[in-house]
Amino acid sequence: MQPKKVNDLEIPVLYYLSDYCFISGKELSNSLGMSRVAVWKQIQKLKKLGYQIIASGKDGYKITSRPDILLAAEVSKMIKTKDIAKKIFYYKKVDSTNSLAKQLLKNENNNLPEGTVLIAGEQTAGRGRLGRNWYSPKGGVWFTIILFPDLEPAYISRITLMSAVVLVNSLKTLYNLKPKIKWPNDIIFEGQKIAGILTEMSAEADKINYILIGIGINANLQTDWFPSEIRKQSISLAEILQKPVSKVQLLRLILENFEKYYSILKKRQFSLILEEWKQNTETLGKYVTIMSGEKTTSGKVIDIKLDGSLIIKEDNGNLQNILSGTLL
Ligand code: BTN
Repeated sequence: MQPKKVNDLEIPVLYYLSDYCFISGKELSNSLGMSRVAVWKQIQKLKKLGYQIIASGKDGYKITSRPDILLAAEVSKMIKTKDIAKKIFYYKKVDSTNSLAKQLLKNENNNLPEGTVLIAGEQTAGRGRLGRNWYSPKGGVWFTIILFPDLEPAYISRITLMSAVVLVNSLKTLYNLKPKIKWPNDIIFEGQKIAGILTEMSAEADKINYILIGIGINANLQTDWFPSEIRKQSISLAEILQKPVSKVQLLRLILENFEKYYSILKKRQFSLILEEWKQNTETLGKYVTIMSGEKTTSGKVIDIKLDGSLIIKEDNGNLQNILSGTLL
């Protein structure tokens, strides 16, 4: 059974309420063309979602605090994108936003435009790369962007590298942090992981049916809640900055940056993006050991190719080209 999305877009009162000044019940009911009772009912719905709203008989209503959730109405408010995030769905709890995207695409392919975003408050079966679990409790930013690019299937790794550049840039802009990309797509801060990207694709030999970009960011959570095997290597934004971040502001900027870089990629100018990837990675120039299936390769990373594969110079001078794997 499919999870039910939160229908916050159907609470239009939210667009009129402010955090700074009161608006009277009468004004709300006139602007929205609904009765005072209907307005009151919407206020109750918002309170149930976690909004704190003061109601003064004389002045009307004012928001005093907003919940730390990524409601579609909040993310889409004033977002500066054209195609990305035209449709946003927020779910309180799902197994995995990538799995849900696959399910929705099977059932309602034609109704989901390019750039549709699925967001989860928490995931019960979040998935990471290489079949790993991705721990996704409340407090994180867990979402999937659905794309239908008119590109060759080989572009999949470029889209992943591009998404890593988008994340690094967004974190730099908002928090003045200098996170690094660990090949292929981990976002790390001082050696610990803040975010990861899971790209999945359905394609024919020469045509992409869809691509799913699943992004997980440890935003407002404490990594000591994490399972012990990943606790040490993970960190959250709130832990780095010592205060919670606005998840709405973060996701909005990521989606805006995503649109910018995606349009460069669609113009087949990926080499520009790869240059930025190179400037922001900690992997180039390093001596590494990579596990790729059964095979382990050690050597110095001397370059990354346009298809996202690393060129490794082994101790004996041999060059190896590695397209996928895990850096040990
Ligand atoms: C990784 O680093 O291994 C990739 C992690 C990707 C996690 C995100 S959270 C949203 C989306 N839904 C999932 O199940 N996984 C991705």
